[in-house]
Amino acid sequence: MTTSLTLSNGRRMPQLGLGVYLVSDPAVCESSVTSALGAGYRLVDTAFAYRNERAVGRGIRASGVPSEEVFLTTKLWPSDYGYDKARSAIAGSLERLDCGHIDLLLQHQPVGDVLGAWRAMEEAVDAGTVRAIGVSNFRVDDLEKLLPKARITPTVDQVELHPHWQQPELLPYLGRHGIVAEAWYPLGHGSAKLLNEPPVVVAASAHGKSAVQVILRWHVQRGFVAIPKSTDPAHIAANIDVFDFELTEAEMAGIDALGKDKPMFRMPRWLMSAVMPLARPRPLP
Ligand SMILES: NC(=O)c1ccc[n+]([C@@H]2O[C@H](COP(=O)([O-])OP(=O)(O)OC[C@H]3O[C@@H](n4cnc5c(N)ncnc54)[C@H](OP(=O)(O)O)[C@@H]3O)[C@@H](O)[C@H]2O)c1
Repeated sequence: MTTSLTLSNGRRMPQLGLGVYLVSDPAVCESSVTSALGAGYRLVDTAFAYRNERAVGRGIRASGVPSEEVFLTTKLWPSDYGYDKARSAIAGSLERLDCGHIDLLLQHQPVGDVLGAWRAMEEAVDAGTVRAIGVSNFRVDDLEKLLPKARITPTVDQVELHPHWQQPELLPYLGRHGIVAEAWYPLGHGSAKLLNEPPVVVAASAHGKSAVQVILRWHVQRGFVAIPKSTDPAHIAANIDVFDFELTEAEMAGIDALGKDKPMFRMPRWLMSAVMPLARPRPLP
Protein backbone atom coordinates (compact mmCIF):
# COMPACT_ATOMS: atom_id res chain seq x y z
CA MET A 1 0.00 0.00 0.00
CA THR A 2 1.29 3.47 -0.79
CA THR A 3 1.76 6.44 1.50
CA SER A 4 -0.33 9.49 0.75
CA LEU A 5 -0.17 13.29 0.89
CA THR A 6 -2.79 15.77 2.08
CA LEU A 7 -3.86 18.22 -0.63
CA SER A 8 -4.64 21.85 0.20
CA ASN A 9 -8.36 21.02 0.15
CA GLY A 10 -7.85 18.40 2.90
CA ARG A 11 -8.25 15.36 0.62
CA ARG A 12 -5.64 12.58 0.62
CA MET A 13 -3.77 11.62 -2.56
CA PRO A 14 -1.68 8.42 -2.84
CA GLN A 15 1.99 9.08 -3.59
CA LEU A 16 2.28 6.34 -6.18
CA GLY A 17 -0.10 5.54 -9.00
CA LEU A 18 -0.42 4.04 -12.46
CA GLY A 19 -0.04 6.25 -15.54
CA VAL A 20 -1.73 5.11 -18.75
CA TYR A 21 -0.32 7.49 -21.37
CA LEU A 22 0.13 5.74 -24.74
CA VAL A 23 -1.82 2.70 -23.55
CA SER A 24 -4.18 2.91 -26.46
CA ASP A 25 -5.29 -0.72 -26.73
CA PRO A 26 -8.46 -0.78 -24.57
CA ALA A 27 -7.97 -4.40 -23.45
CA VAL A 28 -4.36 -3.74 -22.41
CA CYS A 29 -5.39 -0.56 -20.60
CA GLU A 30 -8.20 -2.30 -18.76
CA SER A 31 -5.99 -5.21 -17.66
CA SER A 32 -3.16 -2.87 -16.58
CA VAL A 33 -5.58 -0.95 -14.35
CA THR A 34 -7.03 -4.16 -12.91
CA SER A 35 -3.59 -5.56 -12.31
CA ALA A 36 -2.42 -2.34 -10.61
CA LEU A 37 -5.42 -2.18 -8.30
CA GLY A 38 -4.90 -5.87 -7.47
CA ALA A 39 -1.27 -5.06 -6.58
CA GLY A 40 -2.38 -2.34 -4.14
CA TYR A 41 -2.36 0.83 -6.27
CA ARG A 42 -5.10 3.31 -5.42
CA LEU A 43 -4.35 6.04 -8.00
CA VAL A 44 -4.86 5.95 -11.76
CA ASP A 45 -3.83 8.83 -14.03
CA THR A 46 -5.54 9.19 -17.40
CA ALA A 47 -6.56 12.10 -19.66
CA PHE A 48 -9.08 12.88 -22.36
CA ALA A 49 -6.13 13.00 -24.78
CA TYR A 50 -5.03 9.44 -23.92
CA ARG A 51 -8.30 8.16 -25.44
CA ASN A 52 -8.61 5.46 -22.80
CA GLU A 53 -10.97 6.87 -20.17
CA ARG A 54 -13.61 4.18 -20.88
CA ALA A 55 -11.05 1.39 -20.52
CA VAL A 56 -9.80 2.90 -17.26
CA GLY A 57 -13.34 2.98 -15.87
CA ARG A 58 -13.91 -0.64 -16.94
CA GLY A 59 -10.61 -1.67 -15.32
CA ILE A 60 -11.61 -0.05 -12.03
CA ARG A 61 -15.00 -1.75 -12.03
CA ALA A 62 -13.52 -5.13 -13.03
CA SER A 63 -10.96 -4.94 -10.20
CA GLY A 64 -13.58 -5.30 -7.49
CA VAL A 65 -12.00 -2.38 -5.61
CA PRO A 66 -14.78 0.12 -4.74
CA SER A 67 -14.35 3.24 -6.89
CA GLU A 68 -14.56 5.31 -3.67
CA GLU A 69 -11.17 3.81 -2.73
CA VAL A 70 -9.53 4.71 -6.04
CA PHE A 71 -8.09 8.18 -6.62
CA LEU A 72 -8.96 8.84 -10.25
CA THR A 73 -7.29 11.63 -12.22
CA THR A 74 -8.17 12.85 -15.69
CA LYS A 75 -7.30 15.95 -17.69
CA LEU A 76 -8.98 18.45 -20.00
CA TRP A 77 -7.31 19.10 -23.33
CA PRO A 78 -6.87 22.75 -24.49
CA SER A 79 -9.33 22.28 -27.38
CA ASP A 80 -11.95 21.94 -24.61
CA TYR A 81 -10.95 25.07 -22.68
CA GLY A 82 -13.28 28.02 -22.29
CA TYR A 83 -16.23 27.91 -19.91
CA ASP A 84 -18.89 26.22 -22.08
CA LYS A 85 -16.60 23.71 -23.79
CA ALA A 86 -15.00 22.75 -20.48
CA ARG A 87 -18.39 22.14 -18.88
CA SER A 88 -19.36 19.69 -21.60
CA ALA A 89 -15.87 18.10 -21.63
CA ILE A 90 -16.14 17.45 -17.88
CA ALA A 91 -19.54 15.82 -18.43
CA GLY A 92 -17.98 13.71 -21.21
CA SER A 93 -15.12 12.49 -19.00
CA LEU A 94 -17.55 11.65 -16.17
CA GLU A 95 -19.68 9.66 -18.61
CA ARG A 96 -16.73 7.76 -20.14
CA LEU A 97 -15.08 6.96 -16.80
CA ASP A 98 -18.45 6.02 -15.29
CA CYS A 99 -17.16 5.98 -11.72
CA GLY A 100 -19.55 8.59 -10.31
CA HIS A 101 -16.91 11.26 -9.77
CA ILE A 102 -13.39 12.42 -10.64
CA ASP A 103 -10.96 12.81 -7.74
CA LEU A 104 -8.61 15.16 -9.54
CA LEU A 105 -9.24 17.06 -12.76
CA LEU A 106 -6.25 18.79 -14.34
CA GLN A 107 -5.81 21.26 -17.17
CA HIS A 108 -3.42 19.30 -19.38
CA GLN A 109 -1.53 22.28 -20.84
CA PRO A 110 -1.30 26.01 -20.07
CA VAL A 111 -2.55 27.28 -23.44
CA GLY A 112 -5.92 28.62 -24.64
CA ASP A 113 -8.77 29.92 -22.47
CA VAL A 114 -7.36 28.66 -19.18
CA LEU A 115 -9.44 31.02 -17.02
CA GLY A 116 -12.78 30.10 -18.61
CA ALA A 117 -12.02 26.40 -18.19
CA TRP A 118 -10.91 26.98 -14.60
CA ARG A 119 -14.30 28.55 -13.78
CA ALA A 120 -16.07 25.46 -15.14
CA MET A 121 -13.74 23.24 -13.08
CA GLU A 122 -14.45 25.26 -9.92
CA GLU A 123 -18.18 24.81 -10.52
CA ALA A 124 -17.69 21.05 -10.90
CA VAL A 125 -16.06 21.05 -7.46
CA ASP A 126 -19.04 23.01 -6.08
CA ALA A 127 -21.37 20.43 -7.66
CA GLY A 128 -19.39 17.55 -6.10
CA THR A 129 -18.70 15.72 -9.38
CA VAL A 130 -15.01 16.67 -9.17
CA ARG A 131 -13.23 16.58 -5.82
CA ALA A 132 -10.01 18.46 -6.53
CA ILE A 133 -8.68 20.52 -9.42
CA GLY A 134 -5.19 21.26 -10.59
CA VAL A 135 -2.95 21.88 -13.56
CA SER A 136 -0.29 20.18 -15.63
CA ASN A 137 2.75 21.58 -17.39
CA PHE A 138 2.19 24.99 -15.80
CA ARG A 139 5.36 27.00 -15.23
CA VAL A 140 5.72 29.76 -12.64
CA ASP A 141 4.59 32.43 -15.14
CA ASP A 142 1.46 30.40 -15.99
CA LEU A 143 0.58 29.98 -12.32
CA GLU A 144 1.19 33.67 -11.69
CA LYS A 145 -1.56 34.43 -14.22
CA LEU A 146 -4.02 31.84 -12.87
CA LEU A 147 -3.63 32.17 -9.11
CA PRO A 148 -4.89 35.77 -8.68
CA LYS A 149 -8.03 34.91 -10.71
CA ALA A 150 -8.73 31.51 -9.15
CA ARG A 151 -11.38 31.10 -6.46
CA ILE A 152 -9.96 27.60 -5.82
CA THR A 153 -6.16 27.36 -5.82
CA PRO A 154 -4.79 24.43 -7.87
CA THR A 155 -4.01 21.49 -5.58
CA VAL A 156 -1.49 19.82 -7.90
CA ASP A 157 0.84 20.67 -10.79
CA GLN A 158 1.72 17.56 -12.82
CA VAL A 159 5.01 18.16 -14.60
CA GLU A 160 8.04 16.38 -15.99
CA LEU A 161 10.01 15.48 -12.89
CA HIS A 162 12.74 12.87 -12.29
CA PRO A 163 16.35 12.87 -11.04
CA HIS A 164 17.62 14.28 -14.36
CA TRP A 165 15.07 17.14 -14.35
CA GLN A 166 14.14 18.45 -10.93
CA GLN A 167 12.26 21.64 -11.87
CA PRO A 168 14.61 24.02 -10.01
CA GLU A 169 12.45 27.11 -10.52
CA LEU A 170 9.00 25.56 -10.14
CA LEU A 171 9.39 23.37 -7.03
CA PRO A 172 10.09 26.19 -4.54
CA TYR A 173 7.12 28.13 -5.98
CA LEU A 174 4.80 25.12 -5.61
CA GLY A 175 6.04 24.64 -2.04
CA ARG A 176 5.24 28.27 -1.17
CA HIS A 177 1.69 27.92 -2.53
CA GLY A 178 0.91 24.51 -1.02
CA ILE A 179 0.65 22.90 -4.48
CA VAL A 180 1.71 19.24 -4.69
CA ALA A 181 4.26 18.35 -7.39
CA GLU A 182 3.21 15.28 -9.35
CA ALA A 183 5.84 13.65 -11.56
CA TRP A 184 5.25 12.64 -15.13
CA TYR A 185 8.14 10.77 -16.76
CA PRO A 186 8.99 9.70 -13.19
CA LEU A 187 11.40 7.14 -14.68
CA GLY A 188 12.58 9.52 -17.38
CA HIS A 189 10.28 7.60 -19.74
CA GLY A 190 12.32 4.46 -18.95
CA SER A 191 15.63 6.13 -19.89
CA ALA A 192 18.56 3.68 -19.63
CA LYS A 193 20.86 6.64 -19.01
CA LEU A 194 18.94 7.51 -15.86
CA LEU A 195 18.56 3.90 -14.69
CA ASN A 196 22.34 3.35 -15.06
CA GLU A 197 23.42 6.40 -13.07
CA PRO A 198 25.98 5.23 -10.47
CA PRO A 199 24.19 6.66 -7.37
CA VAL A 200 21.02 4.83 -8.46
CA VAL A 201 22.80 1.55 -9.20
CA VAL A 202 24.77 1.63 -5.94
CA ALA A 203 21.66 2.35 -3.84
CA ALA A 204 19.79 -0.42 -5.66
CA SER A 205 22.46 -2.93 -4.80
CA ALA A 206 22.67 -1.73 -1.16
CA HIS A 207 18.92 -2.24 -0.64
CA GLY A 208 18.42 -5.32 -2.81
CA LYS A 209 16.07 -3.32 -5.07
CA SER A 210 16.03 -2.42 -8.77
CA ALA A 211 17.12 0.95 -10.19
CA VAL A 212 13.46 1.69 -11.03
CA GLN A 213 12.45 1.03 -7.42
CA VAL A 214 15.21 3.32 -6.13
CA ILE A 215 14.04 6.16 -8.39
CA LEU A 216 10.42 5.70 -7.31
CA ARG A 217 11.52 5.65 -3.67
CA TRP A 218 13.42 8.90 -4.30
CA HIS A 219 10.18 10.50 -5.56
CA VAL A 220 8.31 9.33 -2.46
CA GLN A 221 10.99 10.63 -0.08
CA ARG A 222 11.14 13.97 -1.92
CA GLY A 223 7.41 14.35 -1.23
CA PHE A 224 6.25 14.02 -4.84
CA VAL A 225 3.45 11.95 -6.34
CA ALA A 226 4.76 9.60 -9.07
CA ILE A 227 2.71 7.84 -11.74
CA PRO A 228 4.97 5.34 -13.53
CA LYS A 229 3.40 3.80 -16.62
CA SER A 230 3.63 0.09 -17.22
CA THR A 231 1.55 -2.53 -18.98
CA ASP A 232 3.73 -5.38 -17.68
CA PRO A 233 2.15 -7.00 -14.59
CA ALA A 234 5.59 -7.81 -13.12
CA HIS A 235 6.73 -4.19 -13.53
CA ILE A 236 3.41 -2.92 -12.15
CA ALA A 237 3.84 -5.05 -9.01
CA ALA A 238 7.53 -4.13 -8.61
CA ASN A 239 6.84 -0.40 -8.96
CA ILE A 240 4.67 -0.28 -5.87
CA ASP A 241 7.02 -2.43 -3.83
CA VAL A 242 8.97 0.60 -2.59
CA PHE A 243 7.53 1.08 0.88
CA ASP A 244 9.71 -1.44 2.74
CA PHE A 245 13.03 0.41 2.53
CA GLU A 246 14.37 3.91 2.95
CA LEU A 247 17.14 5.71 1.09
CA THR A 248 19.72 7.27 3.40
CA GLU A 249 20.38 11.01 3.41
CA ALA A 250 23.62 10.39 1.50
CA GLU A 251 21.83 8.26 -1.11
CA MET A 252 19.14 10.92 -1.55
CA ALA A 253 21.83 13.62 -1.89
CA GLY A 254 23.68 11.51 -4.50
CA ILE A 255 20.51 11.21 -6.59
CA ASP A 256 19.60 14.88 -6.03
CA ALA A 257 22.99 15.77 -7.51
CA LEU A 258 22.04 14.15 -10.86
CA GLY A 259 19.82 17.12 -11.80
CA LYS A 260 20.51 18.61 -15.23
CA ASP A 261 19.63 22.05 -16.54
CA LYS A 262 17.05 20.99 -19.17
CA PRO A 263 13.96 18.79 -19.27
CA MET A 264 13.93 15.67 -21.43
CA PHE A 265 10.76 16.73 -23.28
CA ARG A 266 10.66 20.15 -24.88
CA MET A 267 8.04 21.80 -27.05
CA PRO A 268 8.24 25.53 -27.85
CA ARG A 269 5.43 27.48 -26.24
CA TRP A 270 4.46 29.13 -29.57
CA LEU A 271 3.90 25.68 -31.09
CA MET A 272 1.86 24.51 -28.09
CA SER A 273 -0.30 27.63 -28.27
CA ALA A 274 -0.78 27.29 -32.03
CA VAL A 275 -1.63 23.60 -32.17
CA MET A 276 -3.12 22.34 -28.91
CA PRO A 277 -6.23 24.54 -28.66
CA LEU A 278 -7.20 23.45 -32.19
CA ALA A 279 -6.21 19.77 -32.33
CA ARG A 280 -8.89 17.75 -30.57
CA PRO A 281 -8.08 14.04 -30.11
CA ARG A 282 -10.99 11.79 -31.04
CA PRO A 283 -12.28 9.81 -28.04
CA LEU A 284 -12.52 6.07 -28.57
CA PRO A 285 -16.07 4.69 -28.73
N1 LIG B 1 0.64 15.63 -18.05
C1 LIG B 1 1.43 15.35 -19.06
O1 LIG B 1 1.65 16.16 -19.97
C2 LIG B 1 2.06 13.99 -19.13
C3 LIG B 1 3.06 13.73 -20.07
C4 LIG B 1 3.62 12.45 -20.08
C5 LIG B 1 3.19 11.49 -19.16
N2 LIG B 1 2.20 11.78 -18.26
C6 LIG B 1 1.72 10.78 -17.27
O2 LIG B 1 2.85 10.20 -16.63
C7 LIG B 1 2.80 8.79 -16.81
C8 LIG B 1 4.20 8.22 -16.85
O3 LIG B 1 4.95 8.77 -17.91
P1 LIG B 1 5.61 7.86 -19.05
O4 LIG B 1 4.78 6.68 -19.23
O5 LIG B 1 5.80 8.66 -20.25
O6 LIG B 1 7.07 7.55 -18.47
P2 LIG B 1 7.63 6.67 -17.24
O7 LIG B 1 6.57 6.19 -16.34
O8 LIG B 1 8.75 7.48 -16.70
O9 LIG B 1 8.29 5.45 -18.01
C9 LIG B 1 7.53 4.44 -18.61
C10 LIG B 1 8.48 3.44 -19.23
O10 LIG B 1 9.18 2.75 -18.20
C11 LIG B 1 8.99 1.34 -18.36
N3 LIG B 1 8.91 0.74 -17.02
C12 LIG B 1 7.95 0.93 -16.08
N4 LIG B 1 8.20 0.19 -14.98
C13 LIG B 1 9.33 -0.51 -15.25
C14 LIG B 1 10.07 -1.47 -14.51
N5 LIG B 1 9.71 -1.83 -13.27
N6 LIG B 1 11.19 -1.99 -15.08
C15 LIG B 1 11.57 -1.61 -16.33
N7 LIG B 1 10.91 -0.72 -17.08
C16 LIG B 1 9.78 -0.16 -16.54
C17 LIG B 1 7.69 1.18 -19.12
O11 LIG B 1 7.69 -0.01 -19.89
P3 LIG B 1 6.69 -1.26 -19.57
O12 LIG B 1 5.29 -0.81 -19.93
O13 LIG B 1 7.23 -2.32 -20.45
O14 LIG B 1 6.83 -1.60 -18.12
C18 LIG B 1 7.74 2.40 -20.05
O15 LIG B 1 8.52 2.13 -21.19
C19 LIG B 1 2.00 8.61 -18.09
O16 LIG B 1 1.51 7.30 -18.26
C20 LIG B 1 0.92 9.64 -17.89
O17 LIG B 1 -0.09 9.16 -17.02
C21 LIG B 1 1.63 13.02 -18.24
